[in-house]
Amino acid sequence: MQNFKVKRAKAFSAELEVPGDKSISHRSVMLASLTNGSCEITGFLPSEDCLATVGAMRALGVKIEVLEENDYGPVRLLVHGTGGQFSKPEQPIDCGNSGTTMRLLSGILATQDFETQLIGDDSLSKRPMGRIIDPLTLMGATLQGTGEKQTAPLSITGSNELQAIDYQMPVASAQVKSTILLAGMSAQGETVVHESAPTRDHTERMLNYLKVETLRDGDAVSICSGQAAEARNLLVPGDISSAAFWMVAVAATPGAVLRIKNVGLNSTRTGVLNILERMGASITVVVDDSGAEPCGTVEIHGGNLNATEIGGSEIPNVIDEIPILAVAAALAKGRTVIKDAGELRVKESDRLSAVADGLRSMGVPVQEFEEGMEIEGGAALHGAEIDSQGDHRIAMAFAIAGLFADGETLVTDVDCVNTSYPGFDKELRQVMEG
Ligand code: S3P
Repeated sequence: MQNFKVKRAKAFSAELEVPGDKSISHRSVMLASLTNGSCEITGFLPSEDCLATVGAMRALGVKIEVLEENDYGPVRLLVHGTGGQFSKPEQPIDCGNSGTTMRLLSGILATQDFETQLIGDDSLSKRPMGRIIDPLTLMGATLQGTGEKQTAPLSITGSNELQAIDYQMPVASAQVKSTILLAGMSAQGETVVHESAPTRDHTERMLNYLKVETLRDGDAVSICSGQAAEARNLLVPGDISSAAFWMVAVAATPGAVLRIKNVGLNSTRTGVLNILERMGASITVVVDDSGAEPCGTVEIHGGNLNATEIGGSEIPNVIDEIPILAVAAALAKGRTVIKDAGELRVKESDRLSAVADGLRSMGVPVQEFEEGMEIEGGAALHGAEIDSQGDHRIAMAFAIAGLFADGETLVTDVDCVNTSYPGFDKELRQVMEG
């Protein structure tokens, strides 16, 4: 089990690229598998979560070739689609730590006429699955969460006679929306999903790019069955959720400058830029909108940050950035309020309590609520020992906090960082060494 030993940073100015987007990497492998031909995926994220998706699709009979690897694993793949016909796996499929794998895959398996078991690690086995079991059951699939409280292991028996539904999601979740749309591709009629706040739209964009039409009408997105996905090559931009760690480090350092190139700039994911700008960072963005996903360069000039309020429909846009934004709040002047963020309690860890406890042990006054917290920023941060709780985003958020603290910060159990950002430790070392 590895730890991060972090000390105050010497220099923050940098120019870097981050690894491929996790959400888009998962979708690229799943949707390429649904096409009738071969799709080359470039910029794939070689993380444990995304490799769980590759393993899952292979277990269902999809041929996936690795065309190129970097130090951490495959970055260019060739997926030979099966046109949506898969074979029954011989063993339970292990989704590891990845909620995206388990949930989106359930949408695909709901359309297959055989039984599959999906298993995950301890953290994934505690995460709510009722949110996908309910709509997929309404469509005609048979699902059972065999853990306590409808949790994994999941047993799924799909059907090739699914019926379309018109469904209001109880939580604003891109994973749930995507699961229903994937099942809707093969359900009779028009499947409609309503969301209470906009969530990331990578699935809709990628489907449209592969010539499967989805329609957006206000809070609803719909899909009609019977549309074949066309094989096309897919490009995965850098992950803005990984970039966010360095963005906060620079934003909170007056005089520092950061340029991040080839990063995803989909407006359902760029809330972190709006919030850091609101807090006082100066940010310029150059977007290339010509591909399936907008991507480009972000330049950030650090400053003296001020507190802000984060809540409402902004939350789904920054759902993965709240831990590092809480660190930004600790470094900002004044009281930051984070509200409407109860979903963070059911991520890879209970992120609200992990963040509140970690910040408190570094000397930051924090008041935690059921759905958020108030952070009194501006006090000196003190080095402390922080348990990542096996959660990649907690590990990385507190590594960044340690760069601003006096003394040494020890973040324990950080192997989990490989679920989303292989190579983070290398960048961290560079920042500390100046
Ligand atoms: C994701 C959606 C979000 C996010 C997760 C990835 C996705 O989850 O937290 O890391 O790829 O669709 P929810 O949709 O459950 O909020």
